[in-house]
Amino acid sequence: MDTSSSIWTEKYRPKKFEELVGQEEVVKKVENLTKSMNIPHLLFAGPAGTGKSTLALIVVKELFGSTWKENYLELNASDERGIDVVRQKVKDFARTKALGNVPFKVIFLDEADALTREAQQALRRTMENYTSTCRFVMSCNYSSKIIDPIQSRCVVLRFKLLERKDIDKRIRLIAENEGFSVGDEAIESLYEASEGDFRRIINLLQASASISNSVTADLINTLSASAKPKDIKVVLDYALSGDFLKAKEKLLDVMLRDSVSGTDIIKSIQKEIWNLDVDPELKVRLTEKTGEIEFRLVEGSDEFIQLEALLAGFVMAGRGK
Ligand SMILES: Nc1ncnc2c1ncn2[C@@H]1O[C@H](COP(=O)(O)OP(=O)(O)OP(=O)(O)O)[C@@H](O)[C@H]1O
Ligand SMILES: [Mg+2]
Repeated sequence: MDTSSSIWTEKYRPKKFEELVGQEEVVKKVENLTKSMNIPHLLFAGPAGTGKSTLALIVVKELFGSTWKENYLELNASDERGIDVVRQKVKDFARTKALGNVPFKVIFLDEADALTREAQQALRRTMENYTSTCRFVMSCNYSSKIIDPIQSRCVVLRFKLLERKDIDKRIRLIAENEGFSVGDEAIESLYEASEGDFRRIINLLQASASISNSVTADLINTLSASAKPKDIKVVLDYALSGDFLKAKEKLLDVMLRDSVSGTDIIKSIQKEIWNLDVDPELKVRLTEKTGEIEFRLVEGSDEFIQLEALLAGFVMAGRGK
């Protein structure tokens, strides 16, 4: 048995450019560069689970075909103990010439933003030393954490959070392959819980499908333990209409029934505010209050007291105060 296939994020990792969803611009650019058989150094920047590592793998497989393993080195900046290890590995790898028609090898450096500025300076010199034999593909969540001299040596490509419209087809493909059913509402819930991270979507799907072969919104919500948007909307409606007690009761109910943490509730509230049918100015005020409470929660304040304070704030805001 192929054990790697039992983890769906690997099994359903796209193997061709056209299988990646939601990153059309980036994919088109990278595909064209790859076809020219001569890529520059690349910096992939963007949120988790949006396809950065996947695209890097597709590039090397396209470039090198069956000899890709010999021509590809993957390093993780946050695992490797310091820049010296990275440099030594690069040196060892870059010493021998590339096999086949492509005149360079590819080094993928994951989580490059985990390197300190000093380490990045060292990396920059390494890049210069091996430019004739190696191309670097780096990935990071925030390009602002990468020093300018590295950025300027790379073509910077920005990955986006996945959008709702991007995910349907791939989810249905997985469902069909694995033999379970998934409805529109469940897909909506998956999207809500994923925050644009496809890895999270697939993990939630695999967890749900291991429980039932009919994946429902309820199941997803229970597993992702984020509060249901509908319930949160009820809480907000009560608060804004001035009914503090009902709002508080409903909130408690959601928190205890689904065992959702205070910070997850805050995130759900934050999202729901923008779906409310109220004045934009009020949305801004509510968002500001939510941010303040989120900060207090992170600092360790009692979550029930803080959430009650938030609801009280919403009641006042609803009255225009
Ligand atoms: N754009 C996408 N299209 C299709 N599947 C995707 C996409 N992005 C991610 N996935 C799925 O999520 C998994 C994780 O993606 P990947 O490893 O490329 O994320 P990443 O952007 O490198 O994230 P991280 O910043 O956490 O390293 C993939 O195996 C794939 O199954
Ligand atoms: Mg990655």
